[in-house]
Amino acid sequence: MKEKKIWEQSDEINSHLKFGKHIEKNINLLNDLLSQANVSKNDLNHILDWGPGGGWLSRDIGGRKLFLFDVVENHELIQRKNCKDKFEQIEFYDVSGENYPSSLNYDIDIAIMFSVIYHMPSLEYVKNAMEQLNIYKPKYIAIRNVFTDENNWECSEFEKNTFLRMNVMNVDKFAQLLPEYEIIGKLKRRKATFLNNIKCFSQSFIFKRIEK
Ligand SMILES: C[S@@+](CC[C@H](N)C(=O)[O-])C[C@H]1O[C@@H](n2cnc3c(N)ncnc32)[C@H](O)[C@@H]1O
Repeated sequence: MKEKKIWEQSDEINSHLKFGKHIEKNINLLNDLLSQANVSKNDLNHILDWGPGGGWLSRDIGGRKLFLFDVVENHELIQRKNCKDKFEQIEFYDVSGENYPSSLNYDIDIAIMFSVIYHMPSLEYVKNAMEQLNIYKPKYIAIRNVFTDENNWECSEFEKNTFLRMNVMNVDKFAQLLPEYEIIGKLKRRKATFLNNIKCFSQSFIFKRIEK
């Protein structure tokens, strides 16, 4: 499957499983988002970690039930190892081929999508993923991703140097994919880079489901 192939041929495969500065940075960003939005980790018991790497972000929060969505089956082992003493139960789903569970049977307190959306193989895939996320109705959604103020872009073919950067979304258009959510925290944009001549920046957001 396309998304499996992208990830399996990448050099990043091991670096994002091992604890290192990049993980520390993402943990700090997630914590900054939670504190900016006044969300206590003690209230986050059921976590959906979509694109978990080594599961370090979930490990940092802890809770009762952890749902892991990944496209590389053998990440499961390391994620379980890293998270097992922080959760009562862990469920792993190989979601390649957009094979998402229709429901998770639990109220999800927070979904974490950190450094994963830009790996998704097309804009349509991102839209489908966000649609699916809407179905799970997490109370909060924490996202770190590469965005642009320009037009959406997707990679048309695999190239070694852009292998893992498969799409970039316009930041405002992206927010429209979560119509039942409002942004309750956002961190400063990180330095702009260029991808396929598009000016991109990395930014983190926390969304909250609008209570009706
Ligand atoms: C760069 S790591 C991010 C890890 C972690 N979220 C963090 O911020 O440290 C990307 C993770 O997303 C997974 N992944 C890649 N494409 C995916 C997709 N389409 N759906 C779900 N997970 C995906 C990778 O296997 C890996 O576990």
